[in-house]
Amino acid sequence: MSKSVIAVIGGTGDLGGGLAYRWAKAGYPIVIGSRTEEKALAARDTLRMRLPEAQVEGAENAGAAERADIIAVSVPFSHQHSTLEVLKPVVQGKIVIDTTVCLQPPKVGRVQLPPEGSAGLIAQEVLGSDVRVVSAFQNIAAAHLDSDHEIDCDVLVTGDDKEAREVVIDLAADAGLKAWSAGPLANSAAVEGLTSILITLNRIYKIPGSGIVVTGKPGV
Ligand SMILES: NC(=O)c1ccc[n+]([C@@H]2O[C@H](COP(=O)([O-])OP(=O)(O)OC[C@H]3O[C@@H](n4cnc5c(N)ncnc54)[C@H](OP(=O)(O)O)[C@@H]3O)[C@@H](O)[C@H]2O)c1
Repeated sequence: MSKSVIAVIGGTGDLGGGLAYRWAKAGYPIVIGSRTEEKALAARDTLRMRLPEAQVEGAENAGAAERADIIAVSVPFSHQHSTLEVLKPVVQGKIVIDTTVCLQPPKVGRVQLPPEGSAGLIAQEVLGSDVRVVSAFQNIAAAHLDSDHEIDCDVLVTGDDKEAREVVIDLAADAGLKAWSAGPLANSAAVEGLTSILITLNRIYKIPGSGIVVTGKPGV
């Protein structure tokens, strides 16, 4: 069966670039999205040089999302809303993976959730109920994804559509990450908040990208 085409909006940046790298390496056709086609094509060329066998394209954000089955959005919180507005017409009926954390510089080590509850809930609100929004990858440092080493960090996946959560859990596995179905999208507030705690741990203990691991084994 052919693999889903994934658009990575903000695939020119740190986290998006890392996700694009891991998924391209796993054989997914990738479309890197950017506000400018020129930047998207430059990121495409870089990824093609790293992974000559990979199927990678680049396009301006809406064009990238239009060509994809699944869309991962990886932009700073301050630009999440405007980016989602651009994507809204072309992502209806699709799965959108929102990676946003409501970080409000300069106090990024302090949990500062938005009045709406979380960035994930904002994504659902902006995109509408016909889009299956799944929130994930908030607790993984970009540098780990943009590498070939094994990643000692789990992913908590939240979203109101169970099947869509499972799709993202499989995508995380293909990126080399153990992921867990962590309940409804409202739970993304806790996952996003955790990121500020990890940033604080990185600072205090000089950890180059701390993460979380769920202990305990699933029962049968
Ligand atoms: N970095 C991490 O380790 C990490 C870890 C977990 C979660 N996250 C979350 O993932 C998201 C992306 O983080 P990041 O560190 O990858 O961000 P980033 O590298 O600073 O930016 C990602 C992309 O966002 C786009 N962007 C920048 N300014 C913009 C604007 N004014 N309007 C619209 N788009 C703009 C840019 O793409 P174009 O210029 O090509 O359009 C940029 O390449 C954030 O919400 C962050 O909290 C990051």
